[in-house]
Amino acid sequence: MPPQSSAPIGRKPAARLLAWYDRHRRHLPWRADPGVTPDPYRVWLSEIMLQQTTVATVGPYFARFLERWPTVGALAQADLDDVLHAWQGLGYYARARNLHRCAKAVVAAWDGRFPDTEEALRSLPGVGEYTAAAVAAIAFGRKATPVDGNIVRVIARYRAVGEALPGAKARIVDLAREFTPNERAGDFAQALMDIGATICTPRAPKCDLCPWRGDCRALAEGVPDAYPVKAAKKPRPVRHGIVFWTLDRKGHVLLRRRPEKGLLGGLMEFPSTPWRARPWALADAVPEAPAAAAWRLLPDAVEHTFTHFHLKLAVAVGRTKAASVPDATWCAIDRLGDHALPTAMKKVAELVRYSS
Ligand code: ADE
Repeated sequence: MPPQSSAPIGRKPAARLLAWYDRHRRHLPWRADPGVTPDPYRVWLSEIMLQQTTVATVGPYFARFLERWPTVGALAQADLDDVLHAWQGLGYYARARNLHRCAKAVVAAWDGRFPDTEEALRSLPGVGEYTAAAVAAIAFGRKATPVDGNIVRVIARYRAVGEALPGAKARIVDLAREFTPNERAGDFAQALMDIGATICTPRAPKCDLCPWRGDCRALAEGVPDAYPVKAAKKPRPVRHGIVFWTLDRKGHVLLRRRPEKGLLGGLMEFPSTPWRARPWALADAVPEAPAAAAWRLLPDAVEHTFTHFHLKLAVAVGRTKAASVPDATWCAIDRLGDHALPTAMKKVAELVRYSS
């Protein structure tokens, strides 16, 4: 007998999901136990951290943040550089900056207490549609429907949404809203997240364990992992640059801060040429160097993939007599860890270490 005919479908989809959640919910550090009032600070912090990062990665970061900044008020008073440093490894620093700005806004505009409606939450820095819905539902029990990547997958399969992403997102959000119960919307959302992470996985979903197997349309079609349908991807453009690994007489290396706005905003980097579509010859690049030196190109290059492009960085090493360079600072090589360096720049430092 096919598995779908053996599952009880008498109850509404939400009721079946919540009954499953009551038995199988994951115990996660930011989740309040049943009957315990959730702490909005913990819910918000976890949701920001979990954007584009796995539960397993977030765990230790969440614990460290809470230990160091146990309340939104404490985080608001933190030094931004400390927050950026503690964020290292969690992805885009813009999120850490917004995290800090948001903590300050909650203190300044809301007396240190998170607002409890989706609309008011949306007015906070770094809180988009998804996060506002997640915090409103999970922390405050509001009827709201956060739809992250896991939930998109579960709903697309449950209703066999044939339209391709990203166009299909609006339809999937509408469907998820229709299924959201008036009570326990936060548990409903977290149940969908858990199902997406543990059962309705991108590949080889474990449909036998799913509380929705009885009326899942993708399963009935026999092809659960054919959903969500995705539009063909465009290849990422490649950009090229030459990084100047600039040493002074003491063997310190030159760092500068990137502009606040834009990619890797405000982070430290080794000076480089602009990143452009055409590869650079060293002779073309030298006028862009931060100081005069006899530059030597390393034989290998660093590669790093950003969301919108793939970056290839050649590295030129040189020693300069200049004592100071405008808008830049010297750093002892063994103190580079004191700075919030983006991953591409850490790769540059690694390459130099192994090339010399
Ligand atoms: N992913 C994003 N938010 C989550 C949550 N609250 N629980 C589990 N996984 C999540």
